[in-house]
Amino acid sequence: MTRSWHSLAKVSDFNSAKSKYVDLGNKEIALFFVEGKFHATDNFCPHRGGPLFRGNIEPGPNIRCPLHGWNFDMKSGQSLNMPQATITTYPVEIRGEEVFVHI
Ligand code: FES
Repeated sequence: MTRSWHSLAKVSDFNSAKSKYVDLGNKEIALFFVEGKFHATDNFCPHRGGPLFRGNIEPGPNIRCPLHGWNFDMKSGQSLNMPQATITTYPVEIRGEEVFVHI
């Protein structure tokens, strides 16, 4: 599948929120805004499909799944407490007021 840039949000969407769920039909993305930077990952936890956009944002930045606590580095996608587990992460670019993600 060819990857391309998608506008998934506006920067202003993150004035009051730290995360956002985006459904692209064939893929669900979790967008995070942490310490002035955006990060994009798959929304589904590889354990049992927990919605990562609802997880706890922790220093790293990491995202902790809200269901059973698997913890993932938002930049690399590597789990910190389950070494065999990873999530896909995606490049993010800000263009004006739009948050673009390369999917
Ligand atoms: S579904 Fe994420 S840790 Fe279980």
